[in-house]
Amino acid sequence: MLLYEQLAGELRGQIARGGLRAGERLPSIRQLAHGHGVSAATAVQACFQLEREGLVVARPRSGYYVRAAVPPPPVARPPRRRVPGAVSNPALENVLDMLSRSDVLPLHSATPAPALLPQAALTAALARSLRHQPAAALDYSPPQGLPALRRQIARRYAQLGAAVSPDEIVITAGAMEGITLALRALTAPGDVVMVETPSYHGILQAVAALRLKVLEVPNLPGRGIDVPRLDQLLQQHRVRAAVLVPNFNNPLGSLTDDAAKQALLASCTRHGTVVIEDDIYGDLAWSGERPSPLCRWDTQGAVISCGSFSKTLSPGLRLGWLAGGAWTDALVRAKYFSTVGSASLPQLAMAEYLQKHDLERHLRRLRRTLADNAQRLHEAIARHWPAGTRASEPRGGLSLWLQLPEGGEGYALFEAALAQGIGTSPGVLFSSRGDYADCLRLSCGLPWSPRLDQALKRLGQLAARQLA
Ligand SMILES: Cc1ncc(COP(=O)(O)O)c(C=O)c1O
Repeated sequence: MLLYEQLAGELRGQIARGGLRAGERLPSIRQLAHGHGVSAATAVQACFQLEREGLVVARPRSGYYVRAAVPPPPVARPPRRRVPGAVSNPALENVLDMLSRSDVLPLHSATPAPALLPQAALTAALARSLRHQPAAALDYSPPQGLPALRRQIARRYAQLGAAVSPDEIVITAGAMEGITLALRALTAPGDVVMVETPSYHGILQAVAALRLKVLEVPNLPGRGIDVPRLDQLLQQHRVRAAVLVPNFNNPLGSLTDDAAKQALLASCTRHGTVVIEDDIYGDLAWSGERPSPLCRWDTQGAVISCGSFSKTLSPGLRLGWLAGGAWTDALVRAKYFSTVGSASLPQLAMAEYLQKHDLERHLRRLRRTLADNAQRLHEAIARHWPAGTRASEPRGGLSLWLQLPEGGEGYALFEAALAQGIGTSPGVLFSSRGDYADCLRLSCGLPWSPRLDQALKRLGQLAARQLA
């Protein structure tokens, strides 16, 4: 047996016997090497081995930690809605009251905390743009958006292997406006639109506001969009458009793999269904391997791709975009009739930021922090929440999806938590008819802190009280 295997075996034994417990830090590489009379390289290899086995996790600049006994992922359930129909979910109507409180710990908000974003660089870019280009900054932007920003966005698509020209990009007020404009350009009231279940509640609200009928296709924990079911539904119903989040669905964090993406696209193309691809989380793959956007394989003009800087740079600048392909003119018209154009100053500043700064470097740090936060949330849930609580194992994005043990009520837990100053998102928000009553979504976007640890403990106590 090689030296590193011997050391890994000893550490494995200690973990199994409880000598090293979930959440505890392993001795440092230097201590391991010194204590076991091996080289630092051997100690590193032993830690790598345990990491591969899923027994420990690395935390940036901190060391290796024993992984929590991770609860199993939430169970996939078929949606209650089996045929197209109007969105009818009273919880969605209250979402503004529920989610707009600023005096709570924002575990409900799927955004990175301000401290994780490049605030100083963006502030400087805003100030410089205003100082050096006051006329452009204070004037209307063209409806399609400023060319300098469209060029930067097209450049990023090129890096991902997708041929998107700056002329096809339309700048929007976040992904949310992008989705609404795309739906407006493609559909008329009464048309059927496919969405995932569970799905981000903003998508459901956009569909409801445009008086569209909705048809739900499951997104499966750990696997992504159920493509065979999607194909079956498209055979049975005439579906005008599908709003899908193949890269790290909100709330599950699941990834639809490349083969499934291509099968999905082939099915939609065959049935004449235009895909509105919401790729807002594509840059937040915790492994660091950026998955491809669906539009990369689109040769038939079947995809409108939608993105945003809300989850990576700034939600408040309200900057997103559409890559419209053949639909670009219709989208520019829809944008013009909606808001004339997006605000000029944020566009100038974002174009400058993207030109001058190393976005990848920022993303690397952000992804590591989010993955680390999710692991700590898992550990806290394993420690403090009732046995039988299930937690998703996201591959990226900003959300953790929890399923309470039998008898648990996500909405009641949400209300009890809010009364104690802790924001959460109840599961009923994530479907068109209020499914997922036993689920809850938490954000991975808050840096770990004693306050957060306390909040997780408190939530666990509230969940246990509910079950009792
Ligand atoms: C899947 C998804 N799409 C769109 C949005 C809205 O993003 P934006 O701030 O860019 O409008 C969100 C925000 O949570 C989201 O999770």
